[in-house]
Amino acid sequence: MRLSLSLSLLLLSLFLPLCFAANVTYDRRSLIIDGQRKLLISASIHYPRSVPGMWPSLIQNAKEGGVDVIETYVFWNGHELSPDNYHFDGRFDLVKFVNIVQQAGLYLILRIGPFVAAEWNFGGVPVWLHYVPNTVFRTDNANFKYYMQKFTTYIVNLMKQEKFFASQGGPIILSQIENEYGDIERVYGEGGKPYAMWAAQMAVSQNIGVPWIMCQQYDAPDPVINTCNSFYCDQFTPNSPNKPKMWTENWPGWFKTFGARDPHRPPEDIAFAVARFFQKGGSLQNYYMYHGGTNFGRTSGGPFITTSYDYEAPIDEYGLPRFPKWGHLKDLHKAIKMTEHVVLNSEPTYISFGPSLEADVYTDSSGACAAFIANVDEKDDKTVQFRNVSYHLPAWSVSILPDCKNVVFNTAMVRSQTAMVEMVPEELHPSVDLTNKDLKALKWEVFVEQAGIWGKADFIQNGLVDHLNTTKDTTDYLWYTTSIFVNENETFLKKGSQPVLLVESKGHALHAFINKKLQVSASGNGSDITFRFKQAISLKAGKNEIALLSMTVGLQNAGPYYEWVGAGLSRVVIEGFNNGPLVLSSHAWSYKLGLQGEHLGIYKPDGIKNVKWISTREPPKQQPLTWYKVILDAPSGNEPVGLDMVHMGKGMAWLNGEEIGRYWPRKSSVHDACVEKCDYRGKFRPDKCLTGCGEPTQRWYHVPRSWFKPTGNILVIFEEKGGDPTKIRLSKRKVSGICAHLGEGHPSIESWSEAENVHVKNKAAVHLKCPGNAHIATIKFASFGTPEGTCGTYSIGACHDPNSTSLVEKVCLNRNECRIELGEESFDKGLCPSATKKLAVEAVCS
Ligand SMILES: *[C@@H]1O[C@H](CO)[C@@H](O)[C@H](O)[C@H]1NC(C)=O
Ligand SMILES: *[C@@H]1O[C@H](CO)[C@@H](O)[C@H](O)[C@H]1NC(C)=O
Ligand SMILES: *[C@@H]1O[C@H](CO)[C@@H](O)[C@H](O)[C@H]1NC(C)=O
Ligand SMILES: *[C@@H]1O[C@H](CO)[C@@H](O)[C@H](O)[C@H]1NC(C)=O
Ligand SMILES: *[C@@H]1O[C@H](CO)[C@@H](O)[C@H](O)[C@H]1NC(C)=O
Ligand SMILES: *[C@@H]1O[C@H](CO)[C@@H](O)[C@H](O)[C@H]1NC(C)=O
Repeated sequence: MRLSLSLSLLLLSLFLPLCFAANVTYDRRSLIIDGQRKLLISASIHYPRSVPGMWPSLIQNAKEGGVDVIETYVFWNGHELSPDNYHFDGRFDLVKFVNIVQQAGLYLILRIGPFVAAEWNFGGVPVWLHYVPNTVFRTDNANFKYYMQKFTTYIVNLMKQEKFFASQGGPIILSQIENEYGDIERVYGEGGKPYAMWAAQMAVSQNIGVPWIMCQQYDAPDPVINTCNSFYCDQFTPNSPNKPKMWTENWPGWFKTFGARDPHRPPEDIAFAVARFFQKGGSLQNYYMYHGGTNFGRTSGGPFITTSYDYEAPIDEYGLPRFPKWGHLKDLHKAIKMTEHVVLNSEPTYISFGPSLEADVYTDSSGACAAFIANVDEKDDKTVQFRNVSYHLPAWSVSILPDCKNVVFNTAMVRSQTAMVEMVPEELHPSVDLTNKDLKALKWEVFVEQAGIWGKADFIQNGLVDHLNTTKDTTDYLWYTTSIFVNENETFLKKGSQPVLLVESKGHALHAFINKKLQVSASGNGSDITFRFKQAISLKAGKNEIALLSMTVGLQNAGPYYEWVGAGLSRVVIEGFNNGPLVLSSHAWSYKLGLQGEHLGIYKPDGIKNVKWISTREPPKQQPLTWYKVILDAPSGNEPVGLDMVHMGKGMAWLNGEEIGRYWPRKSSVHDACVEKCDYRGKFRPDKCLTGCGEPTQRWYHVPRSWFKPTGNILVIFEEKGGDPTKIRLSKRKVSGICAHLGEGHPSIESWSEAENVHVKNKAAVHLKCPGNAHIATIKFASFGTPEGTCGTYSIGACHDPNSTSLVEKVCLNRNECRIELGEESFDKGLCPSATKKLAVEAVCS
């Protein structure tokens, strides 16, 4: 009987969202779904930035983290490869993604754009559209509007066909048109406003039955809701009193560019921003990103956006929850949800307790009460008296009191466990095949590209062409080649002096080969994509071949008229001749698009035989323009895998024809400023808490497990400038340890008994959970008392219960997760009575 009841409940909960249309509307306070105001936590997960095999667990991890809604962009240039040629397979299977969200019982926000920015190549707009004559993006331009409407309609129809809109019983509760256009609308002059109004009108006329949003669109016309994107949105107000206050992008970290430092946003500050938003009447908040993922292949924008789009998001690039960020936000979501009914159905009373100290108190007609108390001081902790009770608030923090009495959460007091994550290198496992008789050694095969034109030139022209106009982004690579004649009587041939090559480029990167030898490499960076250099070179008497390999590293993805930003060489001069500088800019240049290996598809299983690979035990090192191929077994275990490229130069990698993407272990400068420890207090900026000075911005490149077969995997690397392939490793991302610590009197959600709706003292508990199915194998450290240090470096303080370890072992060993209540376990409570005691635990999972 009980079984069949729970079974039918299960079936009901499975099919409910599938069968019944929901009525999504809004008022000034929130979205209203079937007559209920909703307070919603949303999470950006972009389907092409992971693989279908990861989607269910990513979405499940988001759900467990207290998320109600998944938000994704739609990536036009991944779907419409050429006009009317649509692609929805593999990572681009949008329908499958939405289905998984629906099955998880979550809502979805579909940000169609179709311009999306998103650090995605060309902002998501197909490059071919730029070459449709008379097209200007994102303004009152007939061509752009035609193609934008066509694609938007295509996606809307696809979603309607699948009954994905909430109005049809599906998960989509909101849809977005355009993206952050309000910030640049004025730059487009007379074309700006009419375009924005047209976009809104065009969207509304799609009749999707759920509201449309436009983010950062200050003039969004009714009924389209304008929403906020920022690190903080508590001060945001929508452009009409009938629209709810919604936050489409809260950035819990930041993206990275090759050669830059590693940004971090502390969880205390993210939680502070979110709590402030709901304190000040917000009703829907989205983390951009909740899982950032990977810019596989050539999908990253920029230029110079790394292949990793980890974003320091609550779920890391590899799909593992990032602690303590994920856990702290989960606790926050729980606390906020406890206030949902009261805050959405009453008006706040504002109380100022003095400078930087304020509360918003929501009391409904039934007498239910919820309060947010904030200390926005950037330095000092403060104490306030609220309803005759004294509350301590750390600087830059918000306390949440779902009953106006008990603090269940303070944004600056992290209770969640932390985790130590390592990339554990594994030797490449040679794969057994018929040609590989010695089972222990890797068999490498090598193919070397020509420096310069291979085969026939694509065209010859006087002067330097624009790189992007020429390749139209069919490849990163464009050869500019010419030759010069050097007389024997040139002074630099006799004296020790050297001629100097001067190059100016609109971007993004360059390798200069002279007489087939790589003599200079140069590139722009995330702050200035153009570059120029002067570098001494070697020339010989007679004919000299100048072959310049120009490269794009992800196309511009945002900014006014971004599609017109050029790339490639703009000036080439050689100085040091007897007759003065030799200006080559207007010489006759021969051009070749792309590499021979690219043309022949030698990184794909069906193209691999298109060149003659040279077998070798000892692959050449530090050799430019080299393709490497090796057959591997999958790494052991089931942890996520990253390709360690720290000993390589720059290039691209593939596994079994799947595009891992661009690698470039480019280092940031040792002279930059980095922080030891990030102070969460005060306004966050992307450059506030940087680490990794002098380190490669990206060392590991995610290779999804689902791309591996057990054996016979083909790894192909194209190295541009030279590296040591024997040092390539597949590293496994492992949680080496988990830690948690908690002090007596720490606010705790668990101290709130939902069933009885009362506060139970001393229920505060340390919670430990190993990833996946791993279990707690060892308690490395446990101390109830006054332990010191942080995860990985805990030590016993002046006060310590010697039974701590055995008590924790009893509760936790061999379990996937455990909780140890400070109050209930038999810790020695008599220990040093004057001290505030805490429990710190470090455990090893296996
Ligand atoms: C949807 O809800 C709104 C208000 O919340 C109401 O006015 C409208 O009649 C509802 N529509 C349907 C089809 O139920
Ligand atoms: C606070 O204390 C004062 C004096 O003790 C009392 O009059 C008042 O009712 C109390 N207020 C609340 C909200 O408990
Ligand atoms: C160098 O050689 C070129 C061509 O052979 C000649 O025209 C020129 O006068 C020579 N210059 C000198 C300084 O000898
Ligand atoms: C980027 O390049 C420009 C121009 O070469 C240079 O001035 C600037 O310092 C570089 N910035 C970084 C972060 O390396
Ligand atoms: C091609 O490049 C040149 C130089 O950057 C630019 O002026 C021109 O507008 C470009 N054409 C297109 C269609 O982008
Ligand atoms: C430690 O545990 C033992 C046995 O379980 C008990 O006899 C002893 O009193 C405990 N010590 C402390 C300091 O609590």
